[in-house]
Amino acid sequence: MKDYRLDYPFFKNNPNTIFFDNAATALKPQCVIDAVTYYYSHLSCNAHRGDYNLSYLVDKQIAEARRDIANFIGANDNEIAFVSGTTEGMNIIANGFVSKIINEGDEILISELEHASNVLPWFKIAHQKKAEIKYVKLVNGKITPESVKESITSKTKIISLAYISNVLGYKIDAREIAKIAHENNIIFILDGAQSTPHIKVDVKDIDCDFYVFSAHKLGGPTGIGALYGKEEHLANTDPYNLGGGMNKKFGKDTNYDPYNSVRKFEAGTPNIEGIFGFKAIVNYLSEIGMDYIEERERILRDRALDGLRKLDNIIIYNDDPEAYTISFNVKDVFAQDAASLFGKYDICLRAGQHCAKLIDGVMGTYASLRCSMYFYNTIEEVDEFVKVASKGSDFLDAYF
Ligand code: ALA
Repeated sequence: MKDYRLDYPFFKNNPNTIFFDNAATALKPQCVIDAVTYYYSHLSCNAHRGDYNLSYLVDKQIAEARRDIANFIGANDNEIAFVSGTTEGMNIIANGFVSKIINEGDEILISELEHASNVLPWFKIAHQKKAEIKYVKLVNGKITPESVKESITSKTKIISLAYISNVLGYKIDAREIAKIAHENNIIFILDGAQSTPHIKVDVKDIDCDFYVFSAHKLGGPTGIGALYGKEEHLANTDPYNLGGGMNKKFGKDTNYDPYNSVRKFEAGTPNIEGIFGFKAIVNYLSEIGMDYIEERERILRDRALDGLRKLDNIIIYNDDPEAYTISFNVKDVFAQDAASLFGKYDICLRAGQHCAKLIDGVMGTYASLRCSMYFYNTIEEVDEFVKVASKGSDFLDAYF
């Protein structure tokens, strides 16, 4: 089996670092770095504007990137818009589509597990339209199709959920929830930020109405992501950003015509190097295979869970084989202190509320540590992490 770590310069440059903060952002393989520098060193010109050959080559790469990214999630090219990331994608859906179909008294169903980017755009629309935000009833911290069914009413117009929670790491049964949503004439939006790096996603098979994700969580560049929408929904979605590159014409009468394609969402010079890197990462991961990635992560997570379960100084909040991350605390040590103590041992974890500020009531703690692994992590790293976690009451000794 190929050693994928050799593809990541990070490991050569940080030989003693254990990177378990992959849910925040994943490391970048050389092919992504090469794709970005290729754009700057060989092409460097703008997209969709030039009539010379280099500009044509940039446009061609962007079209191919759109095709490869669409393929990666089972979509068609004309259903993928480039956005800056999941956050921008959610804001486009909220302001450009949902704001047009929601009325006073209507309900938007989310959950207490959601990341801020799948909460705050809905709060804004709810305030503007005098709509209501409702929360799915959770079953042991999980969203089930049955709990969604129980939480919808005749007023529910939108369900928007993370496919995989960024804190507890639970995956929802998106296909079944889409079915329930559509039986009740509800639009189903999926936040794919944490699912796309880890599992094979097929938006057509799920039958969600919208799906958004960020390239950097796959190991692509920051500042670029994709918004998928069913063609008929995208046609009914107004652009959020207005400017060059998204309109057919405008006149002094103040009228303007946006493009009839996904280009209407891509005002301004695109993040061209980001798109080049995005293409590189989806092709890299496709070659490795999402099945391999999922299986490899399961082995690492099970090993970590087995190790942590044996420690009586550790509280695990999602001690469940279905979770993709491990959320925990060191007893009697504040999460952020513990994270910086792990940092003393060159172990990178995230601590706090993980941008999911409604989750504390679910977890019963204000802040937690999150260990999030990716396929390039190793058993040796997991064992070292468990060893450091076992330091228990001696943990604070790391500072002295
Ligand atoms: N959304 C990223 C996380 O969960 C930043 O850490």
